[in-house]
Amino acid sequence: MCGIVGFNGNQQAAPVLLEGLSKLEYRGYDSAGIAVFNQNEVEIVKAKGRLKSLMEKTNDGQSVNGTCGIGHTRWATHGEPSEDNAHPHISFHEKIVTVHNGIIENYQELKDRLLKEGYIFYSQTDTEVATNLIEFYYLKNKEPLKAISEAMMRIRGSYALAVMMKDYPDQIFVARKDSPMILGVSNQESYIASDVPAILKYTRNVYYIGNLEMACLKKGSISFYNLDGEEIEKECQEIKWDAQAAEKGGYEHFMMKEIHEQPKAVEDTLNSIIKDNQIVLDLEGLDISNLSQIHFVACGSAWHVSMACQYIFEDLTHIPVRVELASEFRYRNPLLSKKDLVIVISQSGETADSLAALRLAKEKGIPTLAIVNVLGSSIAREADYVLYTLAGPEISVATTKAYSAQLVLGYVLAIYFGKEKGLLEEEKVRYYLSELNTLPKKIERVLEDKERLQWFASKYSNAKDVFFIGRGIDYAISLEGSLKLKEISYIHSEAYAAGELKHGAISLIEDGTLLIGVCTQSQLYEKTISNMVECKSRGAYLMAVAPYGYYQIEDTANFTTYIPRIDEHFIGSLAVIPLQLLAYYLSVSKGLDVDKPRNLAKSVTVE
Ligand code: BG6
Repeated sequence: MCGIVGFNGNQQAAPVLLEGLSKLEYRGYDSAGIAVFNQNEVEIVKAKGRLKSLMEKTNDGQSVNGTCGIGHTRWATHGEPSEDNAHPHISFHEKIVTVHNGIIENYQELKDRLLKEGYIFYSQTDTEVATNLIEFYYLKNKEPLKAISEAMMRIRGSYALAVMMKDYPDQIFVARKDSPMILGVSNQESYIASDVPAILKYTRNVYYIGNLEMACLKKGSISFYNLDGEEIEKECQEIKWDAQAAEKGGYEHFMMKEIHEQPKAVEDTLNSIIKDNQIVLDLEGLDISNLSQIHFVACGSAWHVSMACQYIFEDLTHIPVRVELASEFRYRNPLLSKKDLVIVISQSGETADSLAALRLAKEKGIPTLAIVNVLGSSIAREADYVLYTLAGPEISVATTKAYSAQLVLGYVLAIYFGKEKGLLEEEKVRYYLSELNTLPKKIERVLEDKERLQWFASKYSNAKDVFFIGRGIDYAISLEGSLKLKEISYIHSEAYAAGELKHGAISLIEDGTLLIGVCTQSQLYEKTISNMVECKSRGAYLMAVAPYGYYQIEDTANFTTYIPRIDEHFIGSLAVIPLQLLAYYLSVSKGLDVDKPRNLAKSVTVE
């Protein structure tokens, strides 16, 4: 997820572009750049790091002349944050300049073709490939829109592209598929943006460009085209949100926006490692078949992902798994053998304890694999192997979409290890992958039910203690549900392996105590129900999370939220959603700062 802006008007473009980018930094902030045409000359300025560096480099845009330009703030997916990989990108023959938001899935295939045509590349980005592909066709047919549509017909993936051409210095072309893009006109000036906040200051009248459509921006006018280059009509729509709401996409908080971005985060992460129903992972040199033990090492919610992965890995790979708190692992002098693998999970890739744990494993000569969400982060750079989640930037301190992306990446890794060890036949692998591909839609289905959870939460904003119980994967999901509640609603809560409750903590159950049972594992269902009944008989009020069809649970639970069915290895990804929503609504009902809860930080880079 990156931020794109474009401006074609009667004033200096650079300050307008930088202003717009400053409103889109929540979409990506590891590097930025602008390109502005002044007559037929284009000036491209890029900088690594937050937008501030680009502001300093251009003296807040004052040093860049021209009234027509494009800009970009980046969230790296292909190629670490660097000036070369930052956008805008210029084509090999310097005819085309672009900025892009999205993921081009077949970029390597296209790049190989262009290399055969003599093209040379300076970056690792998929965007430079698209830029050269457009140039390749432009040099063939000299028609901007035709060249762009030729490229669109060959590109697979998602894109919002803003394209400028040396031969058309006072026009900006746009192409879109799946990634967001809006266009606006006001006072003889035209605007492009990935999202409303960037242009709200100038206009509330915007156009939404459709999938596989193009547009051309001239000063104060915009024309739209379909893939055949035929002009199409577009209806102008008025934006009613204020700037704050706009950044959150109309949601009240980033957390709720990110909860609703989980289907896309899961889909993008799955698409990045599953191609044509085959798992594609770059683990060259890792001797999977002879692994003696796997150590998952992490902190916070990433540790909860590790807990869930333990059940799935041991079941699908038959490799013993240890789950380690990074802050304990780094000082415990853990017993590690050269045939072990240490997997470090981290959204930020910068958490100090997790980084130190990784370094400890490397010092002991143990292979390390990192699962991170931030390209170019320390843990990503130092691990022997790195797999990226594609959740995009996560602003809210309490993780949701990165957690869900880590879970599905863990599932696919377990399936891959099981296949490599000859434990999973092709047919079984295909079955698991087809189940995983139903997850995004099923998460959307759970989100549609949110109003019921809002109603339930409103009854418990004064709760003092809340308990979560589950068995197997449900215990791991309960841990995450409990942490979400603590993080943002400041309500004391504990998660217990359901069978453990009667060995102590059940003493805390009294009249009206809210107990939440996660009951998705058919083999363990009856057991968990009986533990819930034990608590009900001591006065607990029971909420349950169960798959559709388990309606007999209403004989026990006072309130049940149902989730769609899916293979039970993966159902945790659905069961966690109602728990995220419950925590969110409880925090909102208490009027708390959902996105920036007290005493917490998005990434703890100190010990
Ligand atoms: C905490 C965050 O600071 O660190 C949690 O608030 C997160 O959301 C934990 O789970 C670990 O962070 P990371 O970046 O290593 O996954």
